Amino acid sequence: MSDRKPFVGGNWKMNTNRTSGSDLARGVTDGLLQLDGVDVAVYPPFPYLLTVRAVLRDRGSSVKLGSQDSYFQNDGAYTGEVSSAMLKDCGVQTVLAGHSERRHVIGEKDELVNKKLRAVLESGLDGVLCVGETLDERLAGHQDIVNARQIRTGLADIPGSLLDRLVIAYEPVWAIGTGKTATPQDAQDAHKQIRSQLARLYGEEAAQRVRIIYGGSLKPDICADIFAQKDVDGGLVGGASLNAGDFVTICKAAASAAKAK
Ligand code: 13P
Repeated sequence: MSDRKPFVGGNWKMNTNRTSGSDLARGVTDGLLQLDGVDVAVYPPFPYLLTVRAVLRDRGSSVKLGSQDSYFQNDGAYTGEVSSAMLKDCGVQTVLAGHSERRHVIGEKDELVNKKLRAVLESGLDGVLCVGETLDERLAGHQDIVNARQIRTGLADIPGSLLDRLVIAYEPVWAIGTGKTATPQDAQDAHKQIRSQLARLYGEEAAQRVRIIYGGSLKPDICADIFAQKDVDGGLVGGASLNAGDFVTICKAAASAAKAK
């Protein structure tokens, strides 16, 4: 059995509405009532955080409430932004930083991702740092360099004492929403490199404790082979997390894979 408890996040992105978000949260909590051996979080859009929180609370669920983004300042004249303190106030427990769509659609750079992640962890929330190469970077054989840079800059000035609340999500950009998944071996190779990079920054023992999860077109039928890899500790799920049954199946697969390791 792996020492690292797997983590599965459902990133709803800019999907659902108040009704469908509640229904989805209900479906996920009901499907996971009996489950232990995996940490699960859902990441609804900002306007539905409180609605989803109410569903999770009503059901006494251990599914965590997550936010897809946050800003690094606490409060002030930052129109449109939402701080970690505000998210905490709304019951959020975990926050994504540097998702590929924030980097490549909105234009966030490594330095901003670092400031956001630091603010999240320093405020006492859990943080998920997302990294991953584009197709061009992979075709050029640069995936390890890109991931190492995103890890190094993303974690700059973050002390080892905060690592217990950090998860790394490896999400190759070419696999997100494309139906193309990394092969289990590609995922393992990238996760191993990321763990080595963490070991260089924080030491081997700390690196062994950090959960590194895979994201990119994860579906119920292919997730088990990826979760079986030694350095894959769960997943960050986009499209399939919008279907409660599929998401629950993926969470259960992560728990089973960890037991078998
Ligand atoms: P898909 O599962 O839709 O490819 O999205 C992955 C992702 O970006 C999760 O954060």
